Amino acid sequence: MDIAVIGCGYVGLVSGVCLASLGHKVIAVDVDEARVKSLREGIVPIYEPGLSEMIKNEVANGRLSFDTDSVRAARESSTIFLAVGTPPAKGGGYDLTYLYTAAEQAAKNANGPKTLVIKSTVNPGTGSKLAKLVAKASTHRIEVVNNPEFLREGTAIQDFMQPDRIVFGAASAEGIATLREIYQPLIDKGFAIFSMSRESAEMTKFAANAMLAMRISFMNELSQLAQTIGADIESVRVGIGTDARIGPGFLKAGVGYGGSCFPKDVQALVHQMKTIGVEPLLLSGIEQVNFRQKMTYAKNILDALKGIENPAVALWGLAFKSDTDDVREAPAFDIIRALLEGGATIKAYDPQAMENIKKVVGNKITYAKGVADATAGADAIAVITDWPEFITQDWGKIAKLMKGKHVFDGRNCLASGKVSAAGLHYHAIGRPELKPGEGRPGSMGIVSAG
Ligand code: UDX
Ligand code: UDX
Repeated sequence: MDIAVIGCGYVGLVSGVCLASLGHKVIAVDVDEARVKSLREGIVPIYEPGLSEMIKNEVANGRLSFDTDSVRAARESSTIFLAVGTPPAKGGGYDLTYLYTAAEQAAKNANGPKTLVIKSTVNPGTGSKLAKLVAKASTHRIEVVNNPEFLREGTAIQDFMQPDRIVFGAASAEGIATLREIYQPLIDKGFAIFSMSRESAEMTKFAANAMLAMRISFMNELSQLAQTIGADIESVRVGIGTDARIGPGFLKAGVGYGGSCFPKDVQALVHQMKTIGVEPLLLSGIEQVNFRQKMTYAKNILDALKGIENPAVALWGLAFKSDTDDVREAPAFDIIRALLEGGATIKAYDPQAMENIKKVVGNKITYAKGVADATAGADAIAVITDWPEFITQDWGKIAKLMKGKHVFDGRNCLASGKVSAAGLHYHAIGRPELKPGEGRPGSMGIVSAG
């Protein structure tokens, strides 16, 4: 099938190259000329493991190309995937301007029947509204369907090619038939396909993200109780996660969630509930807990450094999670602001995300060449992204580099016993702290269950 993908961001790029690898002919389009130029030169503007090799392969076998001309791409394709950004709107909800513009343009210039596939995350009800809009813009039949993405950055290709499920939202049998044709190779492999109304498909995406974010905020709220009563939230995590009804995933306490989806989707859901006059009691708590978690973490660091003139904090990690360069809504922003307001100076290192943070934070902090450079002379270390290279540090060497002794593990990702055995003071989220030289009592014999 000839497919156009409008929007070459994290979602559009992964969708485009994976659709090409399923055998379709894909033209991936973006308004950003620089982005298209670098993609044509084989330079991928985002960090996603495996993406650049896959793009090279699909371009080499002629199934994938890049362009800025979305009109030409849409005319040459029978199916048009809309993966343009759906950023948060000022008054809450989503700004769907890009989506409507791209859809209207595809319809107005249609040279035959088309299927528009909404890949971007949208409010429930958007697909049906878009269908009415495009019906007026063309004499041809323009089918509007939903195919929400569940991609996690860092594992996006695997999430596309080995999905837990694929969701189709359509208002007609033709719409479902087109989506089945697109995903036939995955259907043949036995992956689960669920067909439903557009509204249900849009709501499925919303509900999935809100549920995942809620699990994180649930554990983050409990981590504050665990900290106070001396329980270990990591033990609680495996203690509840091994209940089949709960499951092990997305129960890890930390400094809070970030990314281009959870914060945006939860606030959009809260906003939409309010517009229908239903107070989102549970849903509005998810974001509030997330913000408080970041503030509590920064406060704990500042409290430990009280009395030190201009304390130096080594910030390990800036990306909203490991295996990505993405800093959208990263906890780093609120934590940096709180630490600077508390009088600390910050030297930060992240293997992938420094350029992206620099665009926003600028020279309010300094940027290190590596872990050692960030840590030299630091009064405290704050680990806020669980990069593997942070987890496997030689803590004896790290201790010698530091001026102070405090290590704040914002992702509960470090080997706590090793940190304290190196003479450092280990603090985590919802776990008993370890004074220098203390080992971790037996309770930490747990093996992660998820
Ligand atoms: C975005 C949304 O954030 C997400 O909610 C949705 O599910 C899919 O699209 P992402 O790919 O991460 O996810 O967005 P982003 O990385 O911002 O990429 C959007 C791309 O679309 C950008 O490259 C932008 O230049 C491009 N774009 C935007 C267009 O090509 N045309 C437009 O009109 C607007
Ligand atoms: C998420 C959803 O997982 C994905 O299905 C959807 O399509 C897009 O949004 P993503 O935002 O890329 O994917 O990353 P994810 O792995 O979900 O992590 C989101 C945030 O939650 C990160 O900041 C991560 O550090 C945090 N997190 C995740 C926790 O704090 N605890 C956990 O247990 C899991």
